[in-house]
Amino acid sequence: MREFSTIPRLNIGHGPTPLEYAARLSKTLDCSLYIKRDDCTGLAGGGNKTRKLEYLMAEAQALGADTIVTVGGIQSNHARQSAAAAAKFGFACELVLENVPGVPQADYHQNGNVLLDELLGANIHRITHTQCCDDYCADLIEHLKKQGKKPYFIPVGGSNVIGSLGYVRCAIELLEQIKQQQLEIDQIVLASGSAGTQAGLLAGLIACGSNIRVLGINVSRTEQQQTQLVTRLLEQLLSYLDLEPRQARDVVHTNGDYFGSGYGIATSAMIDAVKLCASQEGLLLDPVYTGKAMAGLLDLVRCGDISGDSKQLFLHTGGSQGVFAYRELFTQ
Ligand SMILES: Cc1ncc(COP(=O)(O)O)c(C=O)c1O
Repeated sequence: MREFSTIPRLNIGHGPTPLEYAARLSKTLDCSLYIKRDDCTGLAGGGNKTRKLEYLMAEAQALGADTIVTVGGIQSNHARQSAAAAAKFGFACELVLENVPGVPQADYHQNGNVLLDELLGANIHRITHTQCCDDYCADLIEHLKKQGKKPYFIPVGGSNVIGSLGYVRCAIELLEQIKQQQLEIDQIVLASGSAGTQAGLLAGLIACGSNIRVLGINVSRTEQQQTQLVTRLLEQLLSYLDLEPRQARDVVHTNGDYFGSGYGIATSAMIDAVKLCASQEGLLLDPVYTGKAMAGLLDLVRCGDISGDSKQLFLHTGGSQGVFAYRELFTQ
């Protein structure tokens, strides 16, 4: 395997993030539930993108870039953390934010993450979901170059090979904590979107010889589509790490039953899961990712697909800033 510790990385996150036992939720569920608190990575509210940005920003610096360009939905947590990382390291930040149809209207366009993006000094480009995001970004990058800027483009969710290295590192950190706490974890459950978190975590587990199962709860795609997306990125990541890409076969598990009618569109199970975790654990989830992932985990335990005897670990990937954008759902 490639010498992992020598890959350039900027130290941004507060880590190791805690690994906690969720005592009250475990009792309610009748199943042992541990939570890896990657909502506590520290960068402007934290979340999973901090770990990806440690590697992406290192590459941007190495290439002599001065402007970060990235994309996401209006309430993108990735955009917020990218804006924060750009501010921290003295880059300009251009965010191309796509409108998401079917979401609440009162606060979605001004509150939550997008409010913080502005506060963090990002220049925001709002586009409709019918506009072509790739074309818009290509034009923007051309324009910035003509102005003498040196843009560095980060794809949606920071989910390329470089960004996903953040979750290889997370897997190493997590296995160390599991060992220290003398736990035996049967499965890690997480929200799976642009795929870098799940692919990175799996690559790290494979690199360390661990066979803990990882289940992604999809936030916008069917099981087949998401499994393909994660597998492709995992293969690339394994090749980058000088590991055998065939090890990506049969280790990617995703579930497309819990995202409802689309990305960012609320489900009643998500609202219940967000309320349950807040009221029983003092734990803040989000409406787009962790709320739906937790709804999936709760349902799989309740219907017996996940055994009550098992030890489940929920990777909390952050995003609670998003609840302010969905205020009307939680105040009824
Ligand atoms: C809070 C939160 N959880 C999970 C995810 C999904 O991670 P990934 O895009 O790496 O699959 C995201 C992505 O934006 C996120 O913001």
